[in-house]
Amino acid sequence: MTTTGEQGWAAVDDYLVAELVTEAPALVAARDAGRAAGLPAIEVSPTQGRFLALLCRMTGARRVLEFGTLAGYSTLWFADAVGPDGHVTTLELDPHHAEVARGNFARAGVADRVRLLEGPAAESAARLVADAEPPFDLVFIDADKPGNARYLELALELSRPGTVVVVDNVVRRGAVADAGSDDPAVRGSRAVLHALGTHPRLDATALQTVGAKGWDGFALALVRG
Ligand code: SAH
Ligand code: DHB
Ligand code: MG
Repeated sequence: MTTTGEQGWAAVDDYLVAELVTEAPALVAARDAGRAAGLPAIEVSPTQGRFLALLCRMTGARRVLEFGTLAGYSTLWFADAVGPDGHVTTLELDPHHAEVARGNFARAGVADRVRLLEGPAAESAARLVADAEPPFDLVFIDADKPGNARYLELALELSRPGTVVVVDNVVRRGAVADAGSDDPAVRGSRAVLHALGTHPRLDATALQTVGAKGWDGFALALVRG
């Protein structure tokens, strides 16, 4: 079989999920609840969710900060990965998304380890900084893309040496390579990649991905001492 292009990527993702990734019923229910409530289908894919969970477990992360909750699908992967003594703080602007997510956290039985801060993520994160929040072990930046560079700055203020930072959707079907793009999302991704590459406290890379969500990619960084 030579299934090429997006159809092939999606078929391989289905195959990989069938072989490797058993989604907990709560994850399936959370995604379904998001769809039923009319939320956009832009959550991480199952292979990506498992990848994020493995990153947490590989690094022993107990405290996770997430920019952009949607229905809480990625949040639930993190909540499982940090374990019963761990915590996830997730930042969401849209009150409807927040309401759907809260229902999903309760149904999944992890409401006690998830804190959802409703409002603009930059304001919520700045409040955490002002309140001397202890550093996070892993930060996932996945909200509005024009905010990415600011979210990285705030993430660094809430980090320690060894904190892992992941930024979603940095490839955008290749558009990220267009220096002249006037798409605010592309410009936001380019800005955060530039910051990741030039920041004295960060070692970073980015990987392109294909699959159920098309052609995209994520950036991965480690905070140095
Ligand atoms: N991390 C989720 C997907 C997040 S989608 C998952 O993989 O399951 C992006 C989310 O960011 C949307 O819910 C959107 O409402 C939210 N968002 C957009 N602008 C925001 C802002 N300024 N502050 C906080 N959240 C924002
Ligand atoms: C979009 C946002 C996301 O976080 C994502 O994973 C995919 C798409 C978007 O805004 O189009
Ligand atoms: Mg995303």
